[in-house]
Amino acid sequence: MCDNRRMTDAAPTHGDDFIIPQAWSSYTATEHATWDRLFARQQAMLQPRVVPAFLEGLDVLRMSKPGIPDFSELSERLMRATGWQVVAVPGLVPDAVFYEHLANRRFVAGRSIRTPEQLDYLEEPDIFHDVFGHVPLLANPVFADYMQAYGEGGRRAQALGTIDKLARLYWYTVEFGLIKDGDALKIFGAGIVSSHGESVFALDDPSPNRIGFDIKRVMQTRYRIDDYQQAYFVIDSFEDLLRQTLDADFGPLYEELAALPDLDVDVILPGDKVLTRGTQAHALAQAVR
Ligand SMILES: [Fe+2]
Repeated sequence: MCDNRRMTDAAPTHGDDFIIPQAWSSYTATEHATWDRLFARQQAMLQPRVVPAFLEGLDVLRMSKPGIPDFSELSERLMRATGWQVVAVPGLVPDAVFYEHLANRRFVAGRSIRTPEQLDYLEEPDIFHDVFGHVPLLANPVFADYMQAYGEGGRRAQALGTIDKLARLYWYTVEFGLIKDGDALKIFGAGIVSSHGESVFALDDPSPNRIGFDIKRVMQTRYRIDDYQQAYFVIDSFEDLLRQTLDADFGPLYEELAALPDLDVDVILPGDKVLTRGTQAHALAQAVR
């Protein structure tokens, strides 16, 4: 699934690595203005809600200057910080290509941006999701190592035929992860930080379950792509996430998972570390519409 990336750009010519030129100079004034609007709105929203490393990443990457970031400038700064680069792709990237890029510390991003009419609702990730959502944390050395480790894990999972299980780890951490910050919870997943509505829902709404992160539990759990999440998993720290991922013996873990049933999104298990037992009111209200 790799980020559920389904873009609508006309596909420019690309090689085996799917990399295309960002063609930064071809963005229109309206496209830059859309970026600026989204950026200002999300930055204000996130100040008290997002993991501090994200705000530090924005600063390191100097992304607060106006307009859509130029990937070559972004990559230069990111390379100095953690050895990562951002490369443009036409949208749909095969799993093998996606993992290969991550394993080599290259983050693939779409180059197109939503229209002004689509500010709040987007079926497919755009450059705002991909760059604003994902890139700031790539400036954090520990998170940067986690993303590379995930790419390497993806290559192994492909060989084992277990991509669907591993994709859940990406979904519930890189896209929709929460993290402890003292007694508070903060957001770090790109799917949340790039969504105005879910930035509030994920932390404040009584509907979803919030459960302590456990790698096997996460990889057993289905997820939904059509609405806010019904469960969020909470990591203690990026160090702990990286350690659990590096320490996991994925071969036996996949064998164990193959014998276990998948879990529905709203399930709470007896062994779960439950931080919030959600009402599921949001999902129930959507279901009766
Ligand atoms: Fe994403």
